[in-house]
Amino acid sequence: MTCILALETSCDETAAAICDADGAILASRIASQAEIHRRYGGVVPEVASRNHIVHVRPLVEQVLADARMTLRDVAAFAATSGPGLASSLLIGTSMAKALAVAERKPFLAVNHMEGHLLSPFMNGGTGMGAADDEAECRPEASATPDTIRPNVSLIVSGGHTMLVLVRRVADYQLIGRTRDDAAGEAFDKIAKMLGLPYPGGPEIDKQAREGDPHAIDFPRTMMAGGNFEFSFSGLKTAVLYELPKLDFTRPQTLPDVCASVQEAIVDVLVEKLVAAARRHRQTLVTVSGGVSCNRRLREKLAERCGCECLQLLLARPEHSTDNAAMIAFAAAQRFKLGSRSPLEVDVDPNLPLVTA
Ligand code: KG4
Ligand code: ZN
Repeated sequence: MTCILALETSCDETAAAICDADGAILASRIASQAEIHRRYGGVVPEVASRNHIVHVRPLVEQVLADARMTLRDVAAFAATSGPGLASSLLIGTSMAKALAVAERKPFLAVNHMEGHLLSPFMNGGTGMGAADDEAECRPEASATPDTIRPNVSLIVSGGHTMLVLVRRVADYQLIGRTRDDAAGEAFDKIAKMLGLPYPGGPEIDKQAREGDPHAIDFPRTMMAGGNFEFSFSGLKTAVLYELPKLDFTRPQTLPDVCASVQEAIVDVLVEKLVAAARRHRQTLVTVSGGVSCNRRLREKLAERCGCECLQLLLARPEHSTDNAAMIAFAAAQRFKLGSRSPLEVDVDPNLPLVTA
């Protein structure tokens, strides 16, 4: 069996996974550093890279044991080479390259965004389930991956918000992206303003469940007019101006602010995705990245796509936030196309998904 072992160390999660030639996941593990970085209110690059060094080797051993394999059974070693934090990316790529050299097997550098982009096809289902309250890191059962079909894809993570036209694997066209903050970044920064812990997205999601999404009418920047760019910094400013007017001794205030902020972000994401699908005459839309765990986003996407007769494929919650399974899956798709990376390939913190 052709198997690929992949590593993901682009930010604050150290992750390793093994998949077969089709991308079916045989083992996947994540060592999360969220607890460590919470103390600082965000990711500290130096701390992240030191922790990757500690975790990466045990993770490789664990996924090999989970898949009942040895290094000799691995056909290629892959790692995220960008975008991300340079000092973090270096740990995963160095490890994967070293393993490739030692085992005399090919190395594959994977774009983190391509990992997210293709992750909805790992499902073997619709991926329609709501996100787990505890998106814990656990070894996953293997699922038969779907065939990758043309679609309009929304990637919503902590660092990126992008709309991409996917024609086939490795044939992508950028439709639009954020001009300032990514959607996840907006969630995180607004959560910080509200005194909620890092990462703020899941905290706002939890608070919002008890809140009124129409309590405060926050701006939906650039929502109309067929514009596929995003901007979330205005929302951040609007929340900042709203805060002094609010009475936080009222227990309902925090949930109401969270629900209203979330509704403003979700409205823009859903409307632009639907409009982009129409513009590019696609009947399938896919959504991935950490923010795709958001309960209200999943709910609204299902509603709107149902009304518009669009087929919706969502990344499973465990494949939405950073993980190595999606990197292994993307590597398997590229490996099938004959892709191999030279060992000289460097990490690139700003690696683009699409080169003009
Ligand atoms: O994809 P990801 O793990 O990392 C990047 O590649 O950036 O995304 C992390 C982002 C964070 O901003 C986090 O707050 C957000 O995803 N996120 C959420 C939820 N779960 C994670 N945002 C809103 N609602 C959630 N349930
Ligand atoms: Zn990511």
